Amino acid sequence: MNALDDLIDAARADFAAAAQPAELEDAKARYLGKTGRVTELLKGLAVLAPQDKKTRGAEINQAKQRIESLLAERREQLAEAELARQLHAEALDVTLPGRRRGVGGLHPVSRTMQRIEAIFGSMGFDVADGPEIETDWMSFTALNNPENHPARSMQDTFYVDMKDAEGRWLNLRPHTSPMQVRYARAHVARHADRIARGEAIPEIRVIAPGRTYRVDSDATHSPMFHQCEGLWIGENVSFKDLKAVFSDFCRRFFETDDLELRFRPSFFPFTEPSAEVDIAFADGPLKGAWLEVAGSGQVHPNVVRNFGLDPERYIGFAFGMGPDRLTMLRYGVNDMRLFFDGDLRFLRQFR
Ligand code: DAH
Repeated sequence: MNALDDLIDAARADFAAAAQPAELEDAKARYLGKTGRVTELLKGLAVLAPQDKKTRGAEINQAKQRIESLLAERREQLAEAELARQLHAEALDVTLPGRRRGVGGLHPVSRTMQRIEAIFGSMGFDVADGPEIETDWMSFTALNNPENHPARSMQDTFYVDMKDAEGRWLNLRPHTSPMQVRYARAHVARHADRIARGEAIPEIRVIAPGRTYRVDSDATHSPMFHQCEGLWIGENVSFKDLKAVFSDFCRRFFETDDLELRFRPSFFPFTEPSAEVDIAFADGPLKGAWLEVAGSGQVHPNVVRNFGLDPERYIGFAFGMGPDRLTMLRYGVNDMRLFFDGDLRFLRQFR
């Protein structure tokens, strides 16, 4: 009896010493396995007389049950310890401040684009969008650029090493002016029946804001920048309409009537005559300085012809302005690269 108690104590100590489930299973084998100590005792019963066998067998079985329950207890302890360890490892520090969802805001140039669209929209201009990868024909040829015009050169234009289905070289559009051609041609196609009957078609009045690309980079130029093209074509649209529309736009954009506009003669292949539009504020930090805000002009007859219209009948004006520059002027930003660096310390100021 004493020996069986010792055996139980030994098993308890052995099980307690097992720190891992695998060690516990080894310890179990030493007592309850095929050649374990309890099993050996049970085998020893064979040589006893029937009466002794019964009492001795009962004692051993009791000890065996005790050892089995010690084993089950220890298994449970180890499982709990393992669970506690896992919970600890995955513990959350609930005292840490949560990760908040950032409050977004519009990019300053996007704000400018929206203002431009709203102002021209209120003057009856449609807003159009078009591809940033253009054909050589759309970017230059259709706009009356001679074959040897410097704007075509590799120094200014990013070329794509690929041609379209009709074998025309592709480029990243260096201006939004191709949208004049795309929009006008679509408009003409929509009214082909009227044109065939010799009837007048509705006027074309559109702006096309978007991204443009040039091989250029300094404080006032970025290889990716924005432009907004404008086009108004009809039977009786003149330079004075351009002046009215553009003056109205500038006053509303900059929210001041104390603003002067000047049309300075210039040259663009797609307009004749052409003018640079300068503005001067009567007040504020930029007071008195002439600031160039757009190129413009009366659309060249060759371009009107490429729209699919008769330049004897249809005439009008176009302009191209830089929303990045307008944004710089409106907010007093002096380095255009700030717009595209993605530095939140800068961008948050416009939220
Ligand atoms: N495309 C010209 C540029 O990128 C800007 C421009 C000038 C557009 C005159 C026009 C225009 O439509 O009439 O510099």
